[in-house]
Amino acid sequence: MILLKRVKSRTFTVLFCIITITTFLFSYSYNDPTSYFFKFAFRFTDTVLSKGLCACTRCINVEDEDPWFMERFNQSVAPLMSKKNSVLSEDTYRWWQWLQAEKKPANYTEVVQKLFEIIPDQEHYMDSGPSRCRTCAVVGNSGNLVGSKYGSLIDSSEFIIRMNHAPTFGFEEDVGRKTTHHVMYPESAKNLQNTTSLVLIPFKTLDLQWIISALTTGSIKHTYLPVLSKIKANKDKVLIYSPTFFKYVYDTWLEGHGRYPSTGFLALMFAVHICDEVNVYGFGADREGNWHHYWENNLLGGAFRHTGVHDGDYEYNITMLLATKQKIKMFKGT
Ligand code: C5P
Repeated sequence: MILLKRVKSRTFTVLFCIITITTFLFSYSYNDPTSYFFKFAFRFTDTVLSKGLCACTRCINVEDEDPWFMERFNQSVAPLMSKKNSVLSEDTYRWWQWLQAEKKPANYTEVVQKLFEIIPDQEHYMDSGPSRCRTCAVVGNSGNLVGSKYGSLIDSSEFIIRMNHAPTFGFEEDVGRKTTHHVMYPESAKNLQNTTSLVLIPFKTLDLQWIISALTTGSIKHTYLPVLSKIKANKDKVLIYSPTFFKYVYDTWLEGHGRYPSTGFLALMFAVHICDEVNVYGFGADREGNWHHYWENNLLGGAFRHTGVHDGDYEYNITMLLATKQKIKMFKGT
């Protein structure tokens, strides 16, 4: 350990000297030694002292030598789709198409092309760094939120991410009133306020066609279930969950457990990769062991554990492990 520390501090000293000398020489050649020298020196010190990672008191992305986290966490996979990253590897396309297999899927490339004529083609949130502190609340749909009075705490985050049918009206005291991002798929879609970003999780090419249609002509009314033909949402704020990131979450974080990740786990992973501090609410059973939704009276009601496609226990264990390792903070409710 002591040897390791010595090697590290020697490496640091050598690096610092090299950078100082080259910076000075470089600055000198530009006739403004002080400004260049100090600019580079400050940036270097800032990066080393903060480990270049975030400006919150608690940062997810800390090079903390936790091998379990570092082996899995990969910030180079963009969580959201842009035209540039929309091209899928053969492996990813095959896996993604298999999730909710379509008999005759439309041409994926053509659909994506059309999609980005309607929604903005941008790179989102890939801006982590020493000066960013993005706090996020991920709000699952568990009945353990009832009576929790987490509302104002949830609303104090910069990003508030909700999902599927989640209502806020009538539940403000426990779940908050603000929503910056609402994660959904066509079969779980709901109308949103103009200020909220719709985050679509596509499970098939038809889902991408659905969002195009729901924002324009309203011609698609049915997938494997009846769906909203038109959606009230700000089309300039529509974001698409990347199939490549979807597969990364399944392979790397769930290690293939369940058929595919639940909306809650996908939303949590989205937050873990775009936020600096993640607070998690509304996940898991209530104190009596019920897995219902917070807006339902039926305690046995239709929460995600009954779908049969998710490994709820495995997802919960990974979520708890992230909390134990202080990567996220879990608020367990009532
Ligand atoms: O049931 P639904 O999928 O709409 O819930 C959204 C997410 O909230 C789930 O995917 C799950 O991750 C989380 N949830 C939970 N415990 C519950 C209900 C939902 O962890 N009782």
